[in-house]
Amino acid sequence: MVSQSLDTLSVATRAHTNIALIKYWGKRDDALYLPTSTSLSLTLDSLYTDMRLTFDSRLSADELHLAGEKQDEASTAKVALVLSLFRERYNCPDASAVRVESHNHVPTAAGLASSSSGFAALAFAARALFEAARPDIPRMSDTELSTFARRGSGSATRSIFGGFVEWSYGTGSSDSVAVPLDNADWDVAMVVAAISTQHKKISSTYGMKHTAATSAFYSLWREASEKDLQEVLAGIKQRDIDVIGAAMEANCMKFHATMFAANPPFTYMTSKSMQVIEFVHALRDEGVSAYFTMDAGPNVKILCRRSDQAVVHERLAAAFPDITLFDATPGSAPELLSEQQWSELYG
Ligand code: ADP
Ligand code: DP6
Repeated sequence: MVSQSLDTLSVATRAHTNIALIKYWGKRDDALYLPTSTSLSLTLDSLYTDMRLTFDSRLSADELHLAGEKQDEASTAKVALVLSLFRERYNCPDASAVRVESHNHVPTAAGLASSSSGFAALAFAARALFEAARPDIPRMSDTELSTFARRGSGSATRSIFGGFVEWSYGTGSSDSVAVPLDNADWDVAMVVAAISTQHKKISSTYGMKHTAATSAFYSLWREASEKDLQEVLAGIKQRDIDVIGAAMEANCMKFHATMFAANPPFTYMTSKSMQVIEFVHALRDEGVSAYFTMDAGPNVKILCRRSDQAVVHERLAAAFPDITLFDATPGSAPELLSEQQWSELYG
């Protein structure tokens, strides 16, 4: 949606979260958000962020509102930085400040990847907003767009595309980009076991920095992750959930091992996470192709066949009635929302 008067020009978008099968865990350049290794994810349809950007000449600085609440300086600063990159790219340093209104349909800061959908939505909306303001500037490709999402949060790079997506190590800022691999329009799904939706105590940004700086296993992790990546890529090519799942699970365990070997050590795993992991193993012993992964929080994401999703969900719900479950199938790239869609959703 693009309303036409420049001062109140407004754009709304929806972007989906993604879950890493091969983890991003460390930056080789903190300012440019260049990763220490290539990662690979699956974009999810049912967990997403809706966002509207509006130029507002009455504001003295960009503002971020999440679910109607004005956000603190730290969260606003990350959004303002990304917007400043667009002002520079579209050669309009004097453009009005932007009001950012956002609604997460995923718990925020809980290890369920709200930053991936949040910053992908921001980048996707900002491209449309600044393009409308400066139609004379050549269009930015989705590949270039992914480098703008990256500057808000690394994992957001991958949410610029749907399905299975790689975020390449690259040689520098312009080619450390998202690459769509496969739209995953086949027998693949996830069940997300949300053990806790509380804000995590150790942010991913801090956790990865501390791990990269102190973990005895860090260089081994980078080497091993590259091998896991090759296996997942082969599994995607063969459309073999067992090949993908086994390599994803192995990568997740190595990723958590880097934290056990940090100084001081820490972990995002809880006893409840372990119970769910054991349950996934038991399901597999029964012949169900179910595999787990976990990120910077206690929540467990289970990859399975779409045709097994209902069984996995029902079995988990019966075994863990206190855990909230989200079902997801592969999601698409971000999309624009019309003015009418936005007002029907958020008034
Ligand atoms: P998560 O596991 O949810 O990605 P992170 O700690 O990595 O947790 O990221 C959470 C941070 O991302 C928030 O504190 C906020 O700064 C930012 N964020 C999340 N959602 C949005 C949003 N919709 N709009 C802008 N920023 C967001
Ligand atoms: C464990 O992308 O949230 O989910 O780039 O510092 O914002 P910043 O970190 P973020 O880290 C994600 C880490 C992860 C693994 C992954 O998504 O690849």
